[in-house]
Amino acid sequence: MPAHGFPTAEGPFVPEIDCAELAALVGGRRPPTLLDVRPRPERAIARLPDDRWIPLEQLPARASELPRDVPIVVYCHHGGTSRRAVELLLRAGRSEVALLSGGIDDYARLVDPTIPRYASDPSVGRVLQQFPNVSTGCLAYLLYDRSSREAVIVDPGREVAPYLQALRRRRLRLAAIVETHTHADHLSGHARLHLRTDAPIYVGTRSEAQYPHRTLSEDEAIPYGRAELTVLETPGHTLDHLSLRSDGAVLTGDTLLPGSCGRADLGTGDVDLLWASLTEKLLRLPDDTEVFPAHYGAIHGLPPPERYSTTIGFERRTNDALRDTTRDGFRAYMTDGWPPKPASFDRIITTNLTE
Ligand SMILES: [Fe+2]
Repeated sequence: MPAHGFPTAEGPFVPEIDCAELAALVGGRRPPTLLDVRPRPERAIARLPDDRWIPLEQLPARASELPRDVPIVVYCHHGGTSRRAVELLLRAGRSEVALLSGGIDDYARLVDPTIPRYASDPSVGRVLQQFPNVSTGCLAYLLYDRSSREAVIVDPGREVAPYLQALRRRRLRLAAIVETHTHADHLSGHARLHLRTDAPIYVGTRSEAQYPHRTLSEDEAIPYGRAELTVLETPGHTLDHLSLRSDGAVLTGDTLLPGSCGRADLGTGDVDLLWASLTEKLLRLPDDTEVFPAHYGAIHGLPPPERYSTTIGFERRTNDALRDTTRDGFRAYMTDGWPPKPASFDRIITTNLTE
């Protein structure tokens, strides 16, 4: 059954080892193949000795290059991207595969201080923080420009204290609150955040929002300091859905999710529009574009690893929703195996549009 809809399934079991276990394995009789799946700019910051490098988006085509006679330990910055890689290798029939929990960051911090630590987000000028909600599987985002200390928050949840705390702790001024779409699965926090910060709320032009807001259409930019987010209209999950581009990354809301896509049967969704948004907008981005979704598959009730993301290239090659490359195939995918509609979705939509 496809995992589309809101990905609350636990997903496949992904073996993990921590950095102390890896250190023991590396020094043991059967050292594993260390596989780095990060993009090139991050590899330039730091790498583990004697590793191999296959960026995530190339892994579906190049997995056969990996030796079969030793275990594989996959790593990335914190362990989020490597989860996608391990899932792929397990599906491809590899058995001795694990991810390095905590990623190279933990390894550098706890095992080998000669390995450089990341100074900041590898994308110049932009720092990004994810805020997972473990009860809904939602992800909100804080992005800020290091020099100006201006910030944007995307898809805030109802409980706004963590965002206010992050803004305070980092001495940031909130320049904008953005909703990628009208959410049907959780109550939004834009109104509370606006009350506390006075930052304007931005939504797509097709939104039926009745609270004070500013609208965004294709190619419009939301500046924050010297950085900006650029709008890519991606209707389908809802009619008002926006994706947001930023320095080699894209926040895809619920349009493109790791391994799946958002459902189109709640509120103003439309399957054909969703197909067009996926194939004519998001899949036209470069393969190494990092994808930050608005949902994650809840992993045994825990928050996701820090920096939960995927890439356009990896999703192009592995995403269940895109497996059949015809619109009819996509329509079938979107019809079969749906979970029931959430009982309160229409009430949540009404609340999110009015307050
Ligand atoms: Fe949604």
